[in-house]
This record gives sequence, C-alpha cells and structure tokens, in this order.
Amino acid sequence: MRKILSIVSVAFFAGRTRTCFAQIDSPEWTVAYSKAKVAVQTLSLSDKVALTTGPCTGNIPAISTINFPGLCLEDSPLGVRGADKVSAFPAGINAAATFNRTLMRARGSAMAAEFRGKGIHVQLGPMMNLMRTPASGRAWEGFGGDPYLSGEGAYETIMGIQSQGVQAVAKHLINNEQEHSRDASSSNVDDRYNAYVHHQQHEIYLHPFLRSVQANVAAVMCSYINGTYACESNSTLNGLLKTELAFQGYWQATHTTAASVNSGLDMTMPGAPFLFSIFGESLVLAVQLMKTVAEERITDMATRIMAAWYLLGQDTGYPEVNFDSRDILGIFPASKHVDVQGDHAKLIRTIGAASTVLLKNAHNALPLKLPKSIAVIGSGAGSNPSGPNSCLLNACNNGVLAMGWGSGTAGFPYLVAPLDALTTKAKKDGTQVTSALSDFDLQAAARAASGKEVAFVFITADSGENGQTVEGNAGDRNNLQAWHGGDALVQAVAHVNPNTVVIVNAVGPIIVEAWIDNPNVTALVWSGLPGQEAGDSLVDILYGDCVPSGRLPYTIGKSINDYPAQVDYTSSKATVHINYTEGLFVDYRHFDMENITPRFEFGFGLSYTQFEYSTLVLMGSPAGGVSRSGYGSSLDPKLHEKAVTVAFTLKNTGAISGHEIPQLYIALPALTNSPPSILKGFDSVFLAAGEVRAVTFQLSRYDLSVWSVVRQRWEVPNGAIGVMVGPSSRNLPLKATISAAGAK
Ligand SMILES: *[C@@H]1O[C@H](CO)[C@@H](O)[C@H](O)[C@H]1NC(C)=O
Ligand SMILES: *[C@@H]1O[C@H](CO)[C@@H](O)[C@H](O)[C@H]1NC(C)=O
Ligand SMILES: *[C@@H]1O[C@H](CO)[C@@H](O)[C@H](O)[C@H]1NC(C)=O
Ligand SMILES: *[C@@H]1O[C@H](CO)[C@@H](O)[C@H](O)[C@H]1NC(C)=O
Ligand SMILES: *[C@@H]1O[C@H](CO)[C@@H](O)[C@H](O)[C@H]1NC(C)=O
Repeated sequence: MRKILSIVSVAFFAGRTRTCFAQIDSPEWTVAYSKAKVAVQTLSLSDKVALTTGPCTGNIPAISTINFPGLCLEDSPLGVRGADKVSAFPAGINAAATFNRTLMRARGSAMAAEFRGKGIHVQLGPMMNLMRTPASGRAWEGFGGDPYLSGEGAYETIMGIQSQGVQAVAKHLINNEQEHSRDASSSNVDDRYNAYVHHQQHEIYLHPFLRSVQANVAAVMCSYINGTYACESNSTLNGLLKTELAFQGYWQATHTTAASVNSGLDMTMPGAPFLFSIFGESLVLAVQLMKTVAEERITDMATRIMAAWYLLGQDTGYPEVNFDSRDILGIFPASKHVDVQGDHAKLIRTIGAASTVLLKNAHNALPLKLPKSIAVIGSGAGSNPSGPNSCLLNACNNGVLAMGWGSGTAGFPYLVAPLDALTTKAKKDGTQVTSALSDFDLQAAARAASGKEVAFVFITADSGENGQTVEGNAGDRNNLQAWHGGDALVQAVAHVNPNTVVIVNAVGPIIVEAWIDNPNVTALVWSGLPGQEAGDSLVDILYGDCVPSGRLPYTIGKSINDYPAQVDYTSSKATVHINYTEGLFVDYRHFDMENITPRFEFGFGLSYTQFEYSTLVLMGSPAGGVSRSGYGSSLDPKLHEKAVTVAFTLKNTGAISGHEIPQLYIALPALTNSPPSILKGFDSVFLAAGEVRAVTFQLSRYDLSVWSVVRQRWEVPNGAIGVMVGPSSRNLPLKATISAAGAK
C-alpha cells in the first residue's frame, strides 16, 4: 500500500451522542460551502492550485487577497509531533481499551487544544485501520480489531478534535493494514465474500470512515489498494467516499498529478519539494497546457479545502503558527516554545488507568494491601537512561514502553517510569522496594524476587512504522513473543515467588502460554501504551485507587496461527498482493466461527468488583426501512435513526464501586454467512456497591444491515436476528431475538 505514506513521514520531519451525527449535506457544511464559494470565486488558477499544494514543511501558503493565512498540518494521532512543551497521550489502542466514549472524546479535545495552541490547523489523525493481522506494525495507532469499536473511537476522537476548531484527518482510506511492502503492495479486498451478497469492504473496513464522515471530518488521507493508489482510485474517492458517504471535506496525499485529481484527490501532502512538483506548477500546466484536468476540478478542490477551514471557524481568531518542527536545536527565533499542556496530565493518567486491562487476578492478588516488600523486575519498569526522547521517532525499546515508533508519535514532556511511581507509593506505605532491571540476568531477577510479598515483572513488545527497524522488526513485529526473552524472565521470577504479577506494555497481543497457567503467576495486568503518565496510571490500578474496567480491543490467542490473517513479509520489487481472503472473519469473528478458544477474548477484562446481568427487553423493529442507493446512501437518515431499543438490568453485586463495560453483540440470520457475534453496542457504566441500574442500547437499521452488492445499499436481512448482552464477546448471558419481518 501507499508509497505516499512513507513520503508523508519524510515530509513531516523525520516525523455520544450517537444520534448527533452529520446528515447528508449537513447544515454546518452548507454554511461553510457558501463562504468558501464566495472566497474561491475571486481566485486565479495559480491561487487555487497553491491551496492544494504545500511548498514547505507542513504548510499550505497564505493567500492575502482572501485573508487566508495558510494551513499548518502536523502529526500525530496521539499528540503534537515536532514540538516541545506538548503532552504524549495514550495511544489509540488504549483509548479503545477504555470502551468509554467520554474519555475518547476528551482525549481528542485535549490533543486538539495543544495543536491549536501551537497554531496547527490540521491534526493528522485519528488513524482507524483495523488490526487485521496481530503483528501489524501501526495497528496500535488505531482502535483494534473490531470495526464498530474503531468506528466509535474514530467518531469520538474527531468530535473531540474538531470541537477545538482543529481539522481532523481520518486515515488511511483504506485497507492499510500492514507495514511490510507498503510501498509496493496491493490489498485485494473481495467485493463479494460469499453466496450471500454482503461486502467485506463495507461491513468491515469502511465503517470507521463512515463514522468519521458522520462526525463531519474535515479531511481524509489515502492508502493504496487493488493495484491502484487509493489517491487515484476513482472507486475509492469518488465512489465510496464522495458518493456513498457524501463526504464534503478534502482528501490528501498523492504521487501523480492528473490521475489523482481526476479521481477526486484534493490536496497533496504538503512538504517535500518532490510533492511540490506533483501538484503546484505541474497542476497549473495540467490545466492550461496539457488540458488533462478541468479548471472546475481545481475550483472544487480549492472550495473543499476552504470549506473545511470555514467549517472549523479557522477564519476568525485562530492562533498563528508559533513553532518550527525543524527546530531540533531550539534556536529558530520564530519558535516561541509555547507550553500547551494545560492540565492534560490528569486526563492522560485517567485514560491510562481506564485503559488498563486486568486479565488474571487469582486469590484477589490485586489490589495490593500495604505489602511489606515488593520486587520490580524488567527493563520495562525503568526509564531509558538516555531520556525518553533519545531515540528518533521513539524507535527503540528501552525503559517503559508508552508508545510505539514512527510518525504516529509525539515527544514526551516526561515519562513516569513504573519503578519511580511504585517507589513513591512504597515510601508512603513503608514498603521495601527491590529492583532488578536487566531482562537477561535471570539470576539477579530471581534474587530480587525471592522472599518478597509481591514480584512485579514487566515485559514488552514494540512495533511501528516501516521507516525504522528496531531489534530486527521492520515496522511489523516478526512474531507475537514478548521481547527481550520476556517469557524466561517471568518464569525465572515465578519459579521463586508465589505472588508474581506480570505487567505487559505492548502494541498488540503477545502469546502468554509459557506461564499464564503457572499458579505462581497470580495476576496479569495489560497496560498497553499508556502515554506519559504510565507509572502513575499503573499504580492507580495496582493499589485500587482506580477499579479496573479496561477491556481488550483485540483477541489474545494461544498461538499466532490461531489468527485469521498474517503479515505478508515478502520482500519483492513487484507488487505484493495482500489477499483479504478471511473475508468478514477478522479477529474474534474468526475465533468464534472456527471454534478456536482464545486465551483472552475480545472485550474481556476483570474488575475488583462483580456485576450481574438480568432482564433483557427489546422494543421496536427494524422493519420498513429501505435505504437509498447512490449519493449519500450510507448516510441515509432512515438508516441511522433508532429502530430497536435494548434494555437490561445491571447490578454491582460486589463490595466496592466500579465501572462495568456491558457489550451488545448481534447474530445475523444464518443465510448471511455472518460471524456468530458482531459488536454493535457498549457503554461504560458506573455503579456503586450494591447499585442496580437499567441500561439501554439503541440499534439502528444500519446496525442490523448487511451490504447488498447487487443493489448497492444496506438491507436488514430476512429472519431472526439474535441480540446478546454481557461483559465480553464470549460471555453473553442475556439473549433475545428481533424479528425483522417485513424489513427488506
Ligand atoms: C477492488 O477490486 C474488486 C475486484 O476487482 C472490486 O470489485 C472492488 O470494487 C475494488 N475495490 C476498490 C475499493 O476499488
Ligand atoms: C468515478 O466514480 C463516480 C462515482 O462512483 C462515477 O460516477 C464515475 O463514472 C467514475 N468515473 C470513472 C472515470 O470511472
Ligand atoms: C512457586 O513458587 C514456589 C516458591 O514459593 C516454588 O517452590 C515453586 O516451585 C513455584 N512453582 C512453580 C510452578 O514455579
Ligand atoms: C493473492 O491473489 C493473487 C491473485 O489471485 C495471487 O496471484 C497471489 O498468489 C495471492 N497471494 C497469496 C499470498 O496468496
Ligand atoms: C468514562 O470514564 C469516566 C472517567 O473514569 C467516568 O467518569 C465515566 O463514568 C465513564 N463512563 C462514561 C459513559 O462516561
């Protein structure tokens, strides 16, 4: 996929309302468009082309005649890259693990406040490609292995970002699910998966982009698909995006001139001179001399870009750019080093804790109760001795792992190491702390752990963008094992300590079979990639100041071979064809379909309290909604209005207060050959000890539909649709069916 994405990195410096969605041609866009049309009318062809081209690092130039100050575009999906005095937020994968829309939106909003504070108009995120293969290098930037969860992550993040007047960019449309050969691969996605006509592309990969458009996303960034760069794929840009999703913003990143523009591309990724030559003067020539592009297309491109600028209100009172990403030495006079962090550290710590997934907790090993002694073991508990920003693009695994590597990173203002946070807590409690931070000195690890009340072992697994290779992993991971011999480290500690607590900081699943059933391993805590407050968030969970409610946004299998698809590691000059032959059966959909028992299923996570589910009631029917086809077909308001209300009772039967994450899955009729259960609802519900609450979910016709390739529209299938509710994808105690009679 996407030669262009690697160029993007070069260019960028070694760089609930569920009902409240945009309608087709939303009023907000209509107002923005009328302003944009007035402004663009007065522009010359060169001015219009300039709007679509970036001559310098992440900047679209100013056009003084219409008081347009230019645009500054900047990475990344987890914070401002290329600037100091900014925050390093939890990664997308951790935002997903919260299963909490409020926190997802708050994260987007806090990040965007920092982009705005630096004068940046466009945040190059969120990233919403699915974790199709468990070892995929950049999947941690996104929201995991499920389209619905990813869609909610994308929607809430964009609503948050754009609430600050910053333009969000949904990326990468589409099928950009591995790093190997991304410069020279084609994702071959079946139009039709099987006998029943529904669509892998629509039902799995496009959904997060649909939710992005519903959030009025300003821009979309492309990938490479079906042997065509998505930047010049007419079916992707003009077909999927601008017609079906009625997308009104603009679309960026390219490698050709006329072909891309004529297929619907609106802006090249500004930055490198090479790219300047793709659009810029070449585009003027394409219109005037070669006549391969019509001026109306250029006017449309400019109007879309201006409309997005008006949509976000960037025409009034927007801060000027006050940093320079090339200013590594801090000597550029224009860099004002504005501190934009506000009180975001608190939110980062909250999300860090809310995204921590408790996977094993034998004999209530956690939370800790004033332990007399603890041992802290493994390099992942400590700090990088050279500082948290000492590796270019975070491309190293040394010290606590709080984000992956590549352009999807931000500089750390500081990084709280677990050892430091545990030591601070231990001082208050009078707990003795012993540490052994070498991953390979197993004797030292055993000595430190021996005789201690609790032994914490930290293990990691890292990945990132393919521009860097870390410990032999060229972007994608080579396997799903813990790095640095993590299994041996856990075993050495568990051999001597009957209360071994394992903490995992990883970009995705790792195989834990070597030790998970060892009775001395009493607890497993999945900390993911929690951002700058890593240690503090962890201590909040370990000591029970926060009650765990995080859930796995992907499946942890017993073997890499249990997963439906793998990274294609082929290195070849010719195009590598990545065939999405698993169809609809991504992540848990495959485990369920093939009856493969995972170690920990999608949506799983323990609490320090217990919850009871009862009394499921369904009201309403999906009957009677025929969605339109053609322009805006996937945004049809009839399709998205409430059709079925699902209500049930949730009780906290334990002794302490906490959040439960109830999840709703549907089972489509057998003739659709669909996965056995499909996530279509979740919430994060706070219940005091003993409290009972009614919880409701709303399902739309869209939620209950499959894509008809023949009629090119969404349709509720005939037959009974199962509705299941419970605490994880494999623990669904409440079941009922909806009769979709008449729906067609
Ligand atoms: C990919 O190719 C298939 C088969 O030719 C086609 O049906 C499908 O629409 C293409 N997808 C895109 C996004 O171009
Ligand atoms: C491009 O896609 C649009 C929308 O699907 C379609 O109307 C148009 O005919 C396509 N153009 C080409 C050249 O295929
Ligand atoms: C568990 O720890 C004890 C030491 O407390 C040790 O004797 C025993 O061998 C360990 N068991 C395993 C399975 O490692
Ligand atoms: C993918 O499909 C193409 C075209 O059908 C085929 O040539 C290729 O061998 C397949 N690749 C793999 C890895 O199966
Ligand atoms: C989400 O998390 C916040 C912070 O922990 C909590 O206050 C809230 O109850 C949770 N649920 C929702 C739906 O916001």
